[in-house]
Amino acid sequence: MLMTDRLPVFPLETKVNKDGHLEIGGCDATELARKFGTPLYIYDEHTLRAKCREFKEEFGKRYPDIGVIYASKAYSNAAILQIVNEEGLGLDVVSGGELGIARMAKFPMKRVYFHGNNKSLPELEMALKYKVGRIVVDNFYELEMLGKLAQEKDVKPSILLRITPGVDPHTHTYTSTGTIDSKFGFPLPLKEEAVARALKIKSLDLVGLHFHIGSRITETAPYLESVKFILKFAAEMRKQYGFELKELNTGGGYDVRYTLDEKPPAFGEFAEKITTTIKNECKKWHMDIPHLVVEPGREIVAQSGVALYQIGVVKEIPGVRTYVAVDGGMGDNIRPALYNARLEAVIANRMKAKMAGKVTICGKFCESGDILIKDIELPEMKAGDILALNGAGAYAIPESMNYNAFFRPPVILVKDGKSRLIRRRETLEDITRCDVME
Ligand code: LLP
Repeated sequence: MLMTDRLPVFPLETKVNKDGHLEIGGCDATELARKFGTPLYIYDEHTLRAKCREFKEEFGKRYPDIGVIYASKAYSNAAILQIVNEEGLGLDVVSGGELGIARMAKFPMKRVYFHGNNKSLPELEMALKYKVGRIVVDNFYELEMLGKLAQEKDVKPSILLRITPGVDPHTHTYTSTGTIDSKFGFPLPLKEEAVARALKIKSLDLVGLHFHIGSRITETAPYLESVKFILKFAAEMRKQYGFELKELNTGGGYDVRYTLDEKPPAFGEFAEKITTTIKNECKKWHMDIPHLVVEPGREIVAQSGVALYQIGVVKEIPGVRTYVAVDGGMGDNIRPALYNARLEAVIANRMKAKMAGKVTICGKFCESGDILIKDIELPEMKAGDILALNGAGAYAIPESMNYNAFFRPPVILVKDGKSRLIRRRETLEDITRCDVME
């Protein structure tokens, strides 16, 4: 195998330049490493925009009334949100902090959906003050609190109810949210009570229902089962309480191809099956087709992101394993340690080098679990080489941390041979700013 065989899981149009270096968005990756230092997170603007457009197109051409909203927890940075806004997507936020970043990015609030399983009173106040488009209510406590707050402020926010459909998405337990035993959403046995109570609260406008069954879903069947469940439920609620389902939000969760051996369905296939099932089920229950909202996070940003690291120690334990240590690790990308996530890697400064055998890429954190890639075939490596890991766009930087007083890496955007800093590297001052000394 050649290192170039791995390029399909890197940003679109990633190539090898005449110097044998990795080129992303028209920029030489080794030059970027030199200019901004490592670890470095690169986002390719072209790939990011292409993903936004593809989503809108794949769903839009199959369904008359569609909204695509970006789940900003995948990476909520003001510059990224500006691009997502320019592409006409909406936004899913799950905290006052994410809502604040959306404001900073001047994201139109009417396209913002406010999620969360334990929203606080100040967060709900903020959502009402900024007039977010939808509040996705998760539980009875929130329903009552929001109802009272809206009444006090004499406003009538549009809400969706998040219902747990009781469907197993067959994914990692940490990212599985659709089964009955979940902290998210109104419990399955109480779903009817949720609708009945929401309809009674005059200060709230119940416009629809939401489900999100999990992340990295590789099968279409759990979505279809959930769609059938929720539309049948909506039909029952119409009969019983006159509830009209104007909006249906089917969450995110579309899987991404991180390694060459992973082959998730193209999201066109998800779009085809989900929209066909909605249309069929609406016909079956004699319901108007609702406004459909999908909220992908990972699929929008994962592929556009690449992490660059500099190699330091190469430690061979004869007969056991060779550890190749990089200058980042679980502090900037906890996904391999937390979810056993797998990634590919290439040596950015020697793309034409021949494979030499399997190694394990580890980080520099004081944890044996600080492994970025276990057993990956790569050429021989030496200190100073630049290693590029794919799929770094989603959930890496947002889940990064200061363990071992690590300075979170800078983030740049690349496009047409130009690079621009969208988050600078942290410094000692940044990470000690909140410490209080006598
Ligand atoms: N909507 C809701 C309500 C969600 O909770 C999520 C993700 C999404 C949409 C977007 O899901 P996506 O399309 O990105 O799969 N940290 C984990 C993933 C956590 C997902 C949390 N919720 C990881 O790195 O794999």
